[in-house]
Amino acid sequence: MKAKVSALRCVDLGFADPDKAAAFFTRAWNLDAVGEEAGVHLLRATGPFHHVLSIRKAAQPAMIRMVFDAADQTTVDTLHKQVAAHGLKTIDPPTTLRQPHGEYGFGFKDPEGRNIAIVCGVKDHADGADQPDRPRKVSHVNINAGDSDATLACYRDALGLKVSDTTRKFHFMTCNADHHNIVLGYSGGPTLNHIAFEMPDLESVMKGAGRMRDDGRGIEWGPGRHGPGNNVFCYFLGPEDMPIEYTAEMQQVDASYRPGTPEDWTWPSGRLDHWGITKGPSERIESAGLKINFTADGWRLDDWR
Ligand SMILES: [Fe+2]
Repeated sequence: MKAKVSALRCVDLGFADPDKAAAFFTRAWNLDAVGEEAGVHLLRATGPFHHVLSIRKAAQPAMIRMVFDAADQTTVDTLHKQVAAHGLKTIDPPTTLRQPHGEYGFGFKDPEGRNIAIVCGVKDHADGADQPDRPRKVSHVNINAGDSDATLACYRDALGLKVSDTTRKFHFMTCNADHHNIVLGYSGGPTLNHIAFEMPDLESVMKGAGRMRDDGRGIEWGPGRHGPGNNVFCYFLGPEDMPIEYTAEMQQVDASYRPGTPEDWTWPSGRLDHWGITKGPSERIESAGLKINFTADGWRLDDWR
Protein backbone atom coordinates (compact mmCIF):
# COMPACT_ATOMS: atom_id res chain seq x y z
CA MET A 1 0.00 0.00 0.00
CA LYS A 2 1.20 3.47 -0.82
CA ALA A 3 2.70 5.41 2.11
CA LYS A 4 1.66 9.02 2.71
CA VAL A 5 2.79 11.97 4.71
CA SER A 6 0.46 12.72 7.60
CA ALA A 7 0.68 16.49 8.11
CA LEU A 8 2.25 19.70 6.90
CA ARG A 9 4.35 20.39 9.97
CA CYS A 10 6.44 23.48 9.28
CA VAL A 11 7.61 25.98 6.70
CA ASP A 12 11.15 27.37 6.57
CA LEU A 13 11.28 30.96 5.39
CA GLY A 14 14.14 33.26 4.46
CA PHE A 15 14.15 37.03 4.95
CA ALA A 16 16.69 39.76 4.29
CA ASP A 17 16.05 40.90 7.88
CA PRO A 18 15.22 37.72 9.79
CA ASP A 19 15.23 39.39 13.21
CA LYS A 20 12.60 41.89 12.10
CA ALA A 21 10.52 39.14 10.47
CA ALA A 22 10.66 36.98 13.61
CA ALA A 23 9.61 40.00 15.68
CA PHE A 24 6.55 40.43 13.45
CA PHE A 25 5.53 36.78 13.67
CA THR A 26 5.72 36.82 17.46
CA ARG A 27 4.50 40.32 18.34
CA ALA A 28 1.78 40.74 15.72
CA TRP A 29 1.03 37.31 14.19
CA ASN A 30 0.82 35.72 17.67
CA LEU A 31 3.25 32.83 17.33
CA ASP A 32 5.70 32.14 20.16
CA ALA A 33 9.48 32.03 19.96
CA VAL A 34 10.65 28.57 20.96
CA GLY A 35 14.35 28.78 20.26
CA GLU A 36 17.08 30.31 18.18
CA GLU A 37 20.17 28.52 16.92
CA ALA A 38 22.86 29.89 14.64
CA GLY A 39 20.66 32.83 13.73
CA VAL A 40 17.65 30.65 12.85
CA HIS A 41 14.49 31.60 14.72
CA LEU A 42 12.07 28.78 15.58
CA LEU A 43 8.45 29.77 16.26
CA ARG A 44 5.59 27.61 17.51
CA ALA A 45 1.84 27.88 17.31
CA THR A 46 -0.52 26.67 20.04
CA GLY A 47 -0.70 23.14 18.62
CA PRO A 48 1.77 20.47 19.69
CA PHE A 49 4.25 20.77 16.80
CA HIS A 50 7.61 21.86 18.19
CA HIS A 51 7.78 24.72 15.66
CA VAL A 52 5.70 25.64 12.64
CA LEU A 53 7.96 28.33 11.25
CA SER A 54 11.69 28.75 10.97
CA ILE A 55 13.12 32.06 9.87
CA ARG A 56 16.68 32.59 8.63
CA LYS A 57 18.75 35.03 6.63
CA ALA A 58 18.34 35.00 2.85
CA ALA A 59 19.31 37.40 0.11
CA GLN A 60 15.62 38.02 -0.53
CA PRO A 61 12.39 36.70 0.97
CA ALA A 62 12.10 33.03 0.08
CA MET A 63 10.14 29.88 0.80
CA ILE A 64 13.09 27.66 1.64
CA ARG A 65 11.37 24.42 2.58
CA MET A 66 8.11 22.68 3.44
CA VAL A 67 8.40 20.02 6.15
CA PHE A 68 5.93 17.13 6.22
CA ASP A 69 5.40 14.68 9.05
CA ALA A 70 5.46 10.92 8.57
CA ALA A 71 4.10 8.42 11.08
CA ASP A 72 7.32 6.50 11.78
CA GLN A 73 10.69 5.44 10.39
CA THR A 74 9.18 2.66 8.27
CA THR A 75 6.89 5.21 6.63
CA VAL A 76 9.84 7.55 6.06
CA ASP A 77 11.73 4.71 4.34
CA THR A 78 8.73 3.83 2.16
CA LEU A 79 8.20 7.48 1.22
CA HIS A 80 11.88 7.69 0.30
CA LYS A 81 11.42 4.73 -2.07
CA GLN A 82 8.33 6.36 -3.56
CA VAL A 83 10.17 9.63 -4.15
CA ALA A 84 13.05 7.77 -5.85
CA ALA A 85 10.63 5.68 -7.90
CA HIS A 86 8.94 8.87 -9.07
CA GLY A 87 12.13 9.69 -10.93
CA LEU A 88 13.22 12.58 -8.74
CA LYS A 89 16.98 12.85 -8.78
CA THR A 90 17.90 15.21 -5.94
CA ILE A 91 17.27 13.17 -2.82
CA ASP A 92 19.11 12.75 0.48
CA PRO A 93 19.14 9.26 1.98
CA PRO A 94 17.04 8.94 5.15
CA THR A 95 19.23 9.77 8.10
CA THR A 96 19.22 10.40 11.82
CA LEU A 97 18.18 13.96 12.63
CA ARG A 98 18.86 16.23 15.52
CA GLN A 99 16.02 17.45 17.76
CA PRO A 100 14.00 19.59 17.57
CA HIS A 101 13.87 18.66 13.89
CA GLY A 102 13.02 15.00 14.44
CA GLU A 103 14.70 11.66 14.89
CA TYR A 104 14.76 10.47 11.26
CA GLY A 105 13.98 11.85 7.84
CA PHE A 106 15.17 12.94 4.41
CA GLY A 107 15.00 15.86 2.02
CA PHE A 108 14.47 16.13 -1.72
CA LYS A 109 13.60 18.58 -4.45
CA ASP A 110 10.22 18.29 -6.13
CA PRO A 111 9.99 18.45 -9.96
CA GLU A 112 10.18 22.25 -9.91
CA GLY A 113 13.04 22.48 -7.41
CA ARG A 114 11.10 23.13 -4.20
CA ASN A 115 12.78 21.79 -1.08
CA ILE A 116 10.71 19.22 0.78
CA ALA A 117 11.64 17.48 4.02
CA ILE A 118 9.90 14.44 5.45
CA VAL A 119 10.54 13.77 9.13
CA CYS A 120 9.31 11.66 12.02
CA GLY A 121 9.88 11.51 15.73
CA VAL A 122 9.96 15.21 16.49
CA LYS A 123 9.82 15.79 20.24
CA ASP A 124 6.70 17.93 20.27
CA HIS A 125 5.09 19.95 23.05
CA ALA A 126 2.88 18.31 25.65
CA ASP A 127 0.53 21.30 25.59
CA GLY A 128 -1.45 21.77 22.41
CA ALA A 129 -4.80 23.26 23.37
CA ASP A 130 -6.31 26.12 21.36
CA GLN A 131 -5.89 29.62 22.68
CA PRO A 132 -8.15 32.46 21.59
CA ASP A 133 -6.64 34.71 18.97
CA ARG A 134 -3.54 32.57 18.39
CA PRO A 135 -2.74 30.33 15.38
CA ARG A 136 -2.81 26.61 16.13
CA LYS A 137 -0.77 25.43 13.11
CA VAL A 138 0.13 26.02 9.50
CA SER A 139 -3.08 25.28 7.66
CA HIS A 140 -1.84 25.12 4.09
CA VAL A 141 0.64 26.43 1.58
CA ASN A 142 -0.66 27.63 -1.77
CA ILE A 143 2.05 27.47 -4.41
CA ASN A 144 2.19 28.76 -7.94
CA ALA A 145 3.39 26.01 -10.25
CA GLY A 146 5.09 26.28 -13.61
CA ASP A 147 4.33 22.68 -14.48
CA SER A 148 1.23 22.04 -12.40
CA ASP A 149 0.69 18.52 -13.76
CA ALA A 150 4.22 17.36 -12.86
CA THR A 151 3.99 18.92 -9.40
CA LEU A 152 0.59 17.38 -8.76
CA ALA A 153 1.81 13.95 -9.86
CA CYS A 154 4.74 14.19 -7.43
CA TYR A 155 2.62 15.17 -4.42
CA ARG A 156 0.01 12.54 -5.29
CA ASP A 157 2.25 9.61 -6.26
CA ALA A 158 5.39 10.20 -4.19
CA LEU A 159 3.92 11.86 -1.06
CA GLY A 160 0.49 10.24 -1.11
CA LEU A 161 -1.64 13.41 -1.06
CA LYS A 162 -5.13 13.22 -2.55
CA VAL A 163 -6.84 15.79 -4.73
CA SER A 164 -9.84 17.06 -2.77
CA ASP A 165 -11.11 19.58 -5.33
CA THR A 166 -10.15 21.16 -8.64
CA THR A 167 -11.21 24.63 -9.76
CA ARG A 168 -10.36 26.71 -12.79
CA LYS A 169 -7.32 28.08 -10.94
CA PHE A 170 -6.23 25.52 -8.35
CA HIS A 171 -5.79 21.87 -7.37
CA PHE A 172 -6.58 21.40 -3.66
CA MET A 173 -4.67 18.49 -2.09
CA THR A 174 -4.75 16.84 1.32
CA CYS A 175 -2.90 14.23 3.35
CA ASN A 176 -5.27 14.13 6.33
CA ALA A 177 -8.76 15.26 7.41
CA ASP A 178 -8.23 18.91 6.46
CA HIS A 179 -9.75 19.67 3.07
CA HIS A 180 -6.41 21.00 1.91
CA ASN A 181 -2.82 21.24 3.13
CA ILE A 182 -1.34 22.05 -0.27
CA VAL A 183 -2.92 24.10 -3.06
CA LEU A 184 -1.35 24.11 -6.52
CA GLY A 185 -1.92 26.99 -8.91
CA TYR A 186 -1.62 26.41 -12.61
CA SER A 187 0.83 29.17 -13.49
CA GLY A 188 3.40 31.67 -12.25
CA GLY A 189 5.70 29.17 -10.67
CA PRO A 190 7.63 27.92 -9.04
CA THR A 191 6.74 30.72 -6.62
CA LEU A 192 4.59 31.16 -3.54
CA ASN A 193 0.95 32.15 -3.60
CA HIS A 194 0.51 32.33 0.19
CA ILE A 195 0.99 30.58 3.53
CA ALA A 196 -2.10 30.10 5.70
CA PHE A 197 -2.15 29.77 9.48
CA GLU A 198 -5.17 28.19 11.14
CA MET A 199 -6.91 30.13 13.88
CA PRO A 200 -9.25 28.40 16.35
CA ASP A 201 -12.35 30.28 15.17
CA LEU A 202 -13.76 33.11 13.09
CA GLU A 203 -13.56 35.54 16.02
CA SER A 204 -9.80 34.99 16.13
CA VAL A 205 -9.47 35.63 12.39
CA MET A 206 -11.32 38.92 12.81
CA LYS A 207 -9.28 39.96 15.84
CA GLY A 208 -6.15 39.05 13.89
CA ALA A 209 -7.27 41.34 11.08
CA GLY A 210 -7.60 44.17 13.58
CA ARG A 211 -4.16 43.41 14.95
CA MET A 212 -2.70 43.60 11.42
CA ARG A 213 -4.36 46.99 11.05
CA ASP A 214 -2.78 48.08 14.32
CA ASP A 215 0.52 46.94 12.79
CA GLY A 216 -0.01 49.18 9.77
CA ARG A 217 -1.05 46.40 7.39
CA GLY A 218 -4.24 46.51 5.38
CA ILE A 219 -6.41 43.54 4.54
CA GLU A 220 -5.40 42.44 1.03
CA TRP A 221 -8.41 40.15 0.64
CA GLY A 222 -11.30 39.33 2.94
CA PRO A 223 -12.84 38.69 5.29
CA GLY A 224 -14.65 35.98 3.37
CA ARG A 225 -15.47 32.29 3.15
CA HIS A 226 -13.88 30.19 0.41
CA GLY A 227 -15.68 27.68 -1.80
CA PRO A 228 -13.41 24.59 -1.67
CA GLY A 229 -12.65 23.91 2.00
CA ASN A 230 -15.42 26.27 3.15
CA ASN A 231 -12.82 28.00 5.35
CA VAL A 232 -13.01 31.64 6.37
CA PHE A 233 -10.10 33.83 5.35
CA CYS A 234 -8.28 37.12 5.60
CA TYR A 235 -5.09 37.82 3.64
CA PHE A 236 -2.23 40.20 4.46
CA LEU A 237 1.26 41.08 3.37
CA GLY A 238 3.69 40.20 6.13
CA PRO A 239 7.36 41.16 6.44
CA GLU A 240 9.10 41.88 3.12
CA ASP A 241 5.71 41.41 1.42
CA MET A 242 5.36 37.73 2.36
CA PRO A 243 1.73 36.79 1.52
CA ILE A 244 0.06 35.27 4.60
CA GLU A 245 -3.47 34.25 5.54
CA TYR A 246 -5.39 33.72 8.74
CA THR A 247 -7.98 31.01 8.23
CA ALA A 248 -10.46 29.03 10.36
CA GLU A 249 -13.26 26.48 10.10
CA MET A 250 -11.48 24.34 7.48
CA GLN A 251 -13.84 21.64 6.22
CA GLN A 252 -12.96 18.17 7.48
CA VAL A 253 -13.13 15.42 4.86
CA ASP A 254 -12.83 11.65 4.75
CA ALA A 255 -12.69 8.96 2.06
CA SER A 256 -16.33 9.58 1.20
CA TYR A 257 -15.63 13.15 0.02
CA ARG A 258 -16.21 13.49 -3.72
CA PRO A 259 -13.74 15.85 -5.39
CA GLY A 260 -15.41 18.68 -7.29
CA THR A 261 -14.46 19.79 -10.79
CA PRO A 262 -14.09 23.31 -12.22
CA GLU A 263 -17.71 23.06 -13.37
CA ASP A 264 -18.80 22.41 -9.78
CA TRP A 265 -16.95 25.48 -8.49
CA THR A 266 -18.33 28.53 -10.19
CA TRP A 267 -19.39 31.84 -8.67
CA PRO A 268 -22.12 34.25 -9.71
CA SER A 269 -20.81 37.30 -11.54
CA GLY A 270 -18.90 39.62 -9.21
CA ARG A 271 -18.40 36.98 -6.53
CA LEU A 272 -15.27 35.11 -5.48
CA ASP A 273 -16.40 33.79 -2.10
CA HIS A 274 -19.55 32.82 -0.21
CA TRP A 275 -20.03 36.11 1.63
CA GLY A 276 -19.27 38.60 -1.12
CA ILE A 277 -18.64 41.45 1.29
CA THR A 278 -15.23 42.39 -0.11
CA LYS A 279 -13.68 42.52 -3.54
CA GLY A 280 -11.20 39.88 -4.71
CA PRO A 281 -7.50 39.82 -3.86
CA SER A 282 -5.56 43.06 -4.19
CA GLU A 283 -3.12 43.47 -7.05
CA ARG A 284 -0.42 43.90 -4.41
CA ILE A 285 -0.91 40.45 -2.92
CA GLU A 286 -1.39 38.79 -6.29
CA SER A 287 1.96 40.09 -7.48
CA ALA A 288 3.81 39.73 -4.15
CA GLY A 289 3.82 35.95 -4.13
CA LEU A 290 5.25 35.80 -7.64
CA LYS A 291 8.44 37.34 -6.24
CA ILE A 292 8.84 34.70 -3.50
CA ASN A 293 10.78 31.78 -4.91
CA PHE A 294 11.73 28.35 -3.63
CA THR A 295 15.22 28.28 -4.98
CA ALA A 296 17.21 29.73 -2.12
CA ASP A 297 20.43 27.97 -1.31
CA GLY A 298 20.31 24.97 0.95
CA TRP A 299 18.11 21.99 0.69
CA ARG A 300 19.73 19.37 2.85
CA LEU A 301 17.91 18.39 6.00
CA ASP A 302 20.90 19.30 8.10
CA ASP A 303 21.71 22.61 6.48
CA TRP A 304 20.75 24.60 9.56
CA ARG A 305 23.66 23.15 11.54
FE1 LIG B 1 -5.44 29.89 1.49
